[in-house]
Amino acid sequence: MKLLVTGGAGFIGSAFIRLVLETDPAVEVVNLDKLTYAGNLENLAGVALERRYRFVHGDICDAGLVEGLLGEVRPEAIVHFAAESHVDRSILSPQPVFETNLRGTFTLLEAARLRRVARFLHVSTDEVYGSLERPLEADEGFPLRPSSPYAAAKAGSDLLALSYFTTYRLPVTVTRASNNYGPYQFPEKLIPLMISNALEKRPLPVYGDGLQVRDWLYVEDHCRALLAVLAKGRESEIYNIGGNCSLPNLEVVRKILQATGRGENLIEYVADRPGHDRRYALSSQKIMRETGWAPQVEFEAGLASTIRWYQEHAGWVQRVKSGEYQTYYARNYAHRNLELPRLGSG
Ligand code: NAD
Ligand code: TYD
Repeated sequence: MKLLVTGGAGFIGSAFIRLVLETDPAVEVVNLDKLTYAGNLENLAGVALERRYRFVHGDICDAGLVEGLLGEVRPEAIVHFAAESHVDRSILSPQPVFETNLRGTFTLLEAARLRRVARFLHVSTDEVYGSLERPLEADEGFPLRPSSPYAAAKAGSDLLALSYFTTYRLPVTVTRASNNYGPYQFPEKLIPLMISNALEKRPLPVYGDGLQVRDWLYVEDHCRALLAVLAKGRESEIYNIGGNCSLPNLEVVRKILQATGRGENLIEYVADRPGHDRRYALSSQKIMRETGWAPQVEFEAGLASTIRWYQEHAGWVQRVKSGEYQTYYARNYAHRNLELPRLGSG
């Protein structure tokens, strides 16, 4: 089985590559990644010399490159992770989001159609359903009401991917996962940002009242779900992948403070995110019924091992937080009146 993975140097893509190479001796992986600020080959250092793994540096918007690569590799399946994945960045600079998430997905779908790829797994998000009032849960037929440029571009790319099945019979399957957490996550998202700030005794910037609810999914549970969908999922179908762990942000932040031995005085309430979705909630009955998958990692255990990973990988954190991260952090938090970090002094 040959897989072309896009965005495999990012958080979830690298976890997927590590898992699939480890669990399936017959699998070969080609990883196409542009290495944006979020792409990091350090995440794949453990498999870099593996002969069943190959890295290709390139942009999914580059039609010539993608078509040529598909012709050369002839993968049995494409697993499409590559995206601009952060809501706050999509608010500050929407352009790259539309380039990669929409035009990039289009370019990949076109190449897959021309090269008659046998399987196209489009990795998407619960954010396409928008904010849900309690006690609603979105199943796969729920209306799409994306709020941010990120979520809107993902919703558009989901629809485009599904249209390639309806129109051209390209065997597309779409997955929509809830918020992931775990090792190697770029410290712009809630959990790794709060862990790394807590470890450095920096303020923890909580947006608004901190009572927004997210459903937390350990990254390896997500990757196992994707393997289950590749094995047993049906083409033209959508599968929600939730963690069955809904928590208000403030509770997550307090757990991180407790686990890192820091006090609540580090919490800083800052200006809310524009268009902030109040609550995400997913029904994952379909994937559980059809593939037998269920999340295995309890939040307490997943959070503890994630914190341990960040404690043991201070060099990784230091490197990803240098350079561009500083500019982003200042842009996103300075107007919220947050004290900005000084590298190396934490
Ligand atoms: P990430 O930001 O950590 O990684 C994205 C990867 O894509 C990086 O390696 C980057 O270099 C690469 N990339 C970006 N633009 C590219 C381009 N034009 N061409 C080739 N490569 C490009 O993202 P992540 O958190 O690992 O998310 C992966 C996927 O999962 C995304 O599609 C995202 O929408 C989806 N998703 C993420 C979450 C989450 O909680 N992080 C939840 C549900 C779904
Ligand atoms: P995030 O990790 O950006 O994921 P998403 O917006 O895709 O759900 O944010 C998770 C939640 O945490 C969301 O409600 C926004 C909130 N948040 C903060 O309160 N402060 C922060 O600094 C960040 C990055 C997020």
